[in-house]
Amino acid sequence: MVSDTDRAALLEGIDADLLQEIHQYEKLLTVSGEKLKSITKHFIDELEKGLSVEGGNIPMIPGWVLDFPTGQETGHFLAIDLGGTNLRVVAVELLGNSKFNTVQHKYSLPDDIRTATSEELWSFIADSLKKFVDERFPNGVNEPLPLGFTFSYPASQNAINEGILQRWTKGYDIDGVEGKNVVPMLQDALAERNIPIDVVALINDTTGTLVASAYADPETKMGLIFGTGCNGAYFERAGSIPKLNGLYADDIDEDGLMAINCEYGAFDNEHFCLPRTKYDVQIDEESPRPDQQSYEKMIAGYYLGELIRLMLLDLYEKGLILKNQDITLLKKSFLFDTSVPAISEVDTSDDLIEIFKMFKELSNIELNLQERKLVKRLSQLVAIRASRLSVCGIAAICQKRGYKTAHCAADGSVYNKYPGFKERAAQGLRDIFEWECDPKDDPIVIVHAEDGSGAGAAIIAALTKNRLAKGLSVGTK
Ligand code: BGC
Repeated sequence: MVSDTDRAALLEGIDADLLQEIHQYEKLLTVSGEKLKSITKHFIDELEKGLSVEGGNIPMIPGWVLDFPTGQETGHFLAIDLGGTNLRVVAVELLGNSKFNTVQHKYSLPDDIRTATSEELWSFIADSLKKFVDERFPNGVNEPLPLGFTFSYPASQNAINEGILQRWTKGYDIDGVEGKNVVPMLQDALAERNIPIDVVALINDTTGTLVASAYADPETKMGLIFGTGCNGAYFERAGSIPKLNGLYADDIDEDGLMAINCEYGAFDNEHFCLPRTKYDVQIDEESPRPDQQSYEKMIAGYYLGELIRLMLLDLYEKGLILKNQDITLLKKSFLFDTSVPAISEVDTSDDLIEIFKMFKELSNIELNLQERKLVKRLSQLVAIRASRLSVCGIAAICQKRGYKTAHCAADGSVYNKYPGFKERAAQGLRDIFEWECDPKDDPIVIVHAEDGSGAGAAIIAALTKNRLAKGLSVGTK
């Protein structure tokens, strides 16, 4: 959090008209405990709706992970994760006793991958996998390597080895993939290159995080990603998923577990309760998929820097800042990634020199001291709002499932790297649940996740192999 003294010191010396604007932003971007509670309440209803036959904004996708890992799963697996900037390829050895080893390589995605063709995307993945397999298995393999494919986009699954992309998120906009099953697309690209790999499971990054963390810590109740995008997964009672009634096979027990990839970045797409500002609306309208991922667009890393940029442009247009500066570069969408607010927040030098240098380098703008202070204050406000809103999904899942205590396993660049995110998120949970205990005794805590897209994908592949070996189902009838 930002103490009153620090805030007062930061705002000292700012001209009255700009200060007034800053006060407006403070009002606009501050989310009270009461508001968090009412958002959480609506969130619970929406989680339920997503599981119902009619469905709702939140997809609540059954992930066909039907077992809680025991920690005793073993074997050799490959895993891949198509992230925002890298393709990560991992060789995983599950050792049992909740232990595993991984060896990984990251392949940088081409700059323009978000708008590449489908052919370019699958070729890139298959070529990277070929390099990895050729290097690690120079003498070839006896049987195809089982691969867990972490695909971190909303993909419907009628079975674990299927993923029909509902829509791209996080600024991706590749033609010819939406509405299609991505597993055969990857499998075909592998076959064309004679790569001995069998895609046995398609996994969302949150589901992988959930399972990897549960393998190591049985108190794990959910897997969360706070990164370029945001989302959560948890285990639901199979019998509490009305939209699956009659669809799953008889060998699936009603009281058994089913991992649900919530895809709750889509929460409140109908704009019922989130406190959107005109900047959130603008980001949404200018995105490749307007009216989708409303919650994600307010809290995820892909958007935080962009929010700051839009606010600065607005103040410039009002004639309050950047007088006599060339703002050509500042007009470029997504010029700022999350490192801009992150670096601004940690700049504690008297004259905020790091902010000055960063803006000069990125936008060729020379901020005066008032403007640097403004950037720092806006960064705090945008990031505090994001971290507080981020926990509504956690609180909603806990309340829906009746969890009084929980380890909520989180991963992602914002969770791992954004200064203060963890503390602010913990405070958000305290405000929602009104705990009066010492913060170190909070009953529901966000903890650091195990490697979901490496170990998690491998464990899911292992669970799937085990079920198939026993003749059990891994999808709808
Ligand atoms: C995607 C989710 C993913 C999340 C975090 C969202 O944009 O729709 O599938 O889990 O980002 O990576």
